[in-house]
Amino acid sequence: MDDPGKALRVILFPLPFQGHINPMIQLANILHSRGFTISIIHTHFNSPDPSKYPHLTFHLIPDGLSEDQESKFDVLRLLHLLNANCIGPFRECLEKLMSAHDDIACIITDALLFCSKDVAQDLGIHRIVLRTSSVCSFLAFATVPLLQGKGYYSNNNLDSRREDPVLELPPLRVKDIPSIQRRNPNDALKILRNTVEATKAASGLIFNTFPDLEEPNHPNLHEHFRIPTFLVGPFHKFFSSASSSLLTQDRSAITWLDTQKPDSVLYVSFGSLVKMDEKNLIEMAWGLANSMQPFLWAVRPGLVQGSEWLESLPIEFLEVTGKRGYIVKWAPQQEVLSHPSVGGFWTHSGWNSVLESICEGVPMICSSFLGDQMVNSRYLNDVWKLGIKLENGFEKEEIESAIRKLMLDREGQEIRERLVCLKEKMDVSLKTDGFSSRSLNALSDLISSFKSSSGF
Ligand code: UDX
Repeated sequence: MDDPGKALRVILFPLPFQGHINPMIQLANILHSRGFTISIIHTHFNSPDPSKYPHLTFHLIPDGLSEDQESKFDVLRLLHLLNANCIGPFRECLEKLMSAHDDIACIITDALLFCSKDVAQDLGIHRIVLRTSSVCSFLAFATVPLLQGKGYYSNNNLDSRREDPVLELPPLRVKDIPSIQRRNPNDALKILRNTVEATKAASGLIFNTFPDLEEPNHPNLHEHFRIPTFLVGPFHKFFSSASSSLLTQDRSAITWLDTQKPDSVLYVSFGSLVKMDEKNLIEMAWGLANSMQPFLWAVRPGLVQGSEWLESLPIEFLEVTGKRGYIVKWAPQQEVLSHPSVGGFWTHSGWNSVLESICEGVPMICSSFLGDQMVNSRYLNDVWKLGIKLENGFEKEEIESAIRKLMLDREGQEIRERLVCLKEKMDVSLKTDGFSSRSLNALSDLISSFKSSSGF
C-alpha cells in the first residue's frame, strides 16, 4: 500500500548538452522545492556532478559514444546516436527504478530525447516532455511537414528566395525555416519530425518561457499539441544555472567588468554548441574593433573550427582593442548579464541566453546558426523588438553599425525601455497568483494525479 504522506518521485532524463542540462536541473530543483522526490537518469557524456545536488539522486547509464564522437561534437550526429544508443540502457534503468520504488509518478524527458516515448509506452508510465526553447520555435518545428509539402525544401534555389516571407509562418523568411540552410536537411528533418511526433504522444508539455513574451503564439500550441501545456519560466528566476555549468566559469570577467563604466560593455557569447569558421571570427573581431565600444567576449575552446582557441585572431586586432576588450573561454553568464557595466549582449539567440538577457533588461544583437536560433532571432527582431538581428551573417560593417545602434543610439534605448515593461510583466507572472506560478501549480497537480491513475 502507498503511504499517502510520502512524496511522489519524478524521474528526469536530460539531453546531455549544456543548454538542455541547465533548464532540466533547474526544473529538478523547482519540483523538489514543491515537495517531489527527484531522480535523474543521465549519460556518461557531459555528466552532471551529483555532489553539487545532495537532495537529488543520480543514475548513470552507458551512452555508447566513442571518444572521437564526443570530441567531434557534431550535434545532429550526437542527437541520432544518443537516441539510438540510450534506448536500451534507459529502459533497463527505468525498469529497475520502477521495481525498487512504489512512489514514481512519471518521467520528464527532454523533447529531443524522443527515444523515451516507446520506453514509457512499453513500461506503462506517464511521460511529460520538457522543451527547453521558445513556443514560437517549437511551433515552427511542428509546421515543417506542411512547409515540406509546399516544396520549400525541394527548391535548390535558396539564394534567390532567402529573404522571401513564409506566408504559412509569419514573420519568418525562407532563410529562417528550421534546417533549410543545411546542404542536406534530411537528417535534421527526421530529428525534428521524431521530436514533434514523440511530444504529441506525451502526457504533458513544459516550456521554459512566459506567456507575455510568447503572445500571440502560445494559444496556437493546442492546434498541434493536444495535451496539457505549461509555461512555467523563466526557470533561472527560481534557480541559477551556474551550478550546472560544464566548463569552469572564469570569474576574472567580473573583476574586469568592475573597472568599466555603467552600461558601456557589449558582452559577446555564442553558447555551448555553435561552431563557426575562421573567416567569420575575423569579421566579428573587426566589427568589434571598429565599433570602438568596450567588449567582454567569451570564446569557447572549439568555437572556431580547426582552432584550439584564439590562434586565428589577427595580432593587429589585439593591439588595436588593447584594454578595451577582455576575452575569456567561458563566463559566469548570468552574473555578467546582471552586472551594471553590461549594456548589450551579442548572442547566438540560444533560448537560455535570450531569457537570461531579458531578465536582466539587456538589449541584444542577434546572430543565429542552428535549430531554434533562427526563429528566436526573427521574433526578437521583428515581433518582440528586443534585439537587432544581423541579417547578413558576419559582415564587419553590419556588425559595427548594429553595435553602435545598440550601445549609443536611440534604438538601443527604446529596446531597453521595452525590456523594462516586459520585465514588470514577467515579475507579475512569477508572483504567487501569476501565470507562471499557476502553471507550475497545474503541473504539480497533473504529476500528482498520475499516481492514482495507471500509465497509458
Ligand atoms: C542550445 C541551443 O543553442 C539553444 O538554442 C537551445 O534552446 C538550447 O540548447 P546553447 O547553444 O548552449 O544551447 O545556448 P543557450 O540556450 O543560450 O545556453 C547556454 C547556457 O550556457 C546558458 O545558460 C548560459 O548562461 C551558459 N553560458 C554560456 C555560460 O555559463 N557561460 C558562457 O560563457 C556562455
